[in-house]
Amino acid sequence: MKINKNNQKSDVGAPSNGMDKVISLCKRRGFIFPGSEIYGGLANSWDYGPLGVELKNNIKQEWWRRFVHSRTDVVGLDTALIMNTKVWEASGHLKEFSDPLVECDVCKNRWRIDALDQMRARKADGSYRCPTMTASFIKGGADSYCSGKLSEPRQFNLMFKTFLGPVESEDNTVYFRPETAQGMFVNFKNVLETTRKRLPFGIAQVGKAFRNEITPGNFIFRTREFEQMEIEYFTHEKDWKAHFEMWLEEMRNWLRHLGVKKFHETEIPDGERAHYSKRTVDIEYDFPFGKKELYGLAYRTDFDLKKHMDKSGEDFRYTDPETNEKFLPHVIEPTWGVDRSVLVALLEAYHEETVKSEKLKVKSEDDEDTRVVMKFPKWLAPVKVAVLPLSKKENLSSQAKKIHEDLAKDFVCEYDETQSIGKRYRRQDEIGTPFCVTVDFESLEDKAVTVRDRDTMKQERISISELKNYLNQKLNSE
Ligand code: GAP
Repeated sequence: MKINKNNQKSDVGAPSNGMDKVISLCKRRGFIFPGSEIYGGLANSWDYGPLGVELKNNIKQEWWRRFVHSRTDVVGLDTALIMNTKVWEASGHLKEFSDPLVECDVCKNRWRIDALDQMRARKADGSYRCPTMTASFIKGGADSYCSGKLSEPRQFNLMFKTFLGPVESEDNTVYFRPETAQGMFVNFKNVLETTRKRLPFGIAQVGKAFRNEITPGNFIFRTREFEQMEIEYFTHEKDWKAHFEMWLEEMRNWLRHLGVKKFHETEIPDGERAHYSKRTVDIEYDFPFGKKELYGLAYRTDFDLKKHMDKSGEDFRYTDPETNEKFLPHVIEPTWGVDRSVLVALLEAYHEETVKSEKLKVKSEDDEDTRVVMKFPKWLAPVKVAVLPLSKKENLSSQAKKIHEDLAKDFVCEYDETQSIGKRYRRQDEIGTPFCVTVDFESLEDKAVTVRDRDTMKQERISISELKNYLNQKLNSE
């Protein structure tokens, strides 16, 4: 772990628990870069590069298509990142959204106890020393750790604070949202009245959330700024169990669609759930750094609507049009982390294969090697088709550019005419492009191209007039 000049801990360059190959590929090929890299990074922040943004957008768009556009019982919303502080008073976040931390009386750094264990700061007598390295130790000197004493654990709120307007006063203090969910609760009545939906129905939102995590780390697994895809599904109390099961099944199916075959479901016991939840199932994944939460499903009861109704005075009760019963809806909340979805998609897709000989219809000088191939499901691949002229000769490249221009109207495409064809295939394998279209000298005669499949490496000769249909069919076959 590097300590920056301003003492912000950064994971840039830290050992990555077996994720090194994926992290290095992400940097090398433009999926994900360390945030503020030229200044030494910033406390485990990451920037999505040209391929990363395509990958992330594919996840968000597919999620929206599946859970909003394809259903008649869910509508979308996009609410403000900074909300009235009363929202966080009512939701309980100001009081409850905290971690127990110990503080050093000399360097003033704060840690969670589990982080101290990971940093091997426990002493023989069971107490902990401050794990901050002294400046002289960092420069190679003898003095190693800060001599400060650690306090007893105290609760520290995880919400990011800022000020509204030019005056930095208590009255102007506001918070960046730590979950997208509250935007859906406070707009419950607006949505109900404008869409005329009947229960059960859900409100979906995709957007950023901010948490001043004490121990961010493990690449994009835990960051202080991340994206969530959440649904608040409103129902009559008597139906909550059936809807809980329905959303659990939806979450399982989503994971299979994302290419994740193995995951775990853990029932969170009493006393360990978030303050608003009466039942929570965590969906967990075997990350290289251990089994950890990927997504969550919670039964939030009528907790949030009730709190907002009490605090704002707004009547959030629903009147059943058939029975005239007036009641406060209960809520099932399935929640998905976008960045954790990107991380599992990358981990699942990463393959190294020893390729004996790729029988290239299009000849290549380097057709025997190890290939790194990202086997993304086709819908998820950031680039769908690469168009590769066999040589840079004008007659070939102009034909290839025409094909690229036409395909780019329908698919995310790349055009590449540099280096050998074998190297270009490997480059496309590394970014997970499902199909490479090679334009060779025969193409000028037979008006056909060679299409190479990423996974089987099989090549087929397809006529240019049929190419778009062929690719459409293949890309939509999953
Ligand atoms: N509205 C409920 C809620 O926010 P949560 O379990 O705290 O529940 C939901 O967060 C999801 O958001 C998690 O399952 C995870 O995928 C993602 N998430 C939470 N904290 C994160 C962090 N610091 N970095 C990246 N993703 C995070």
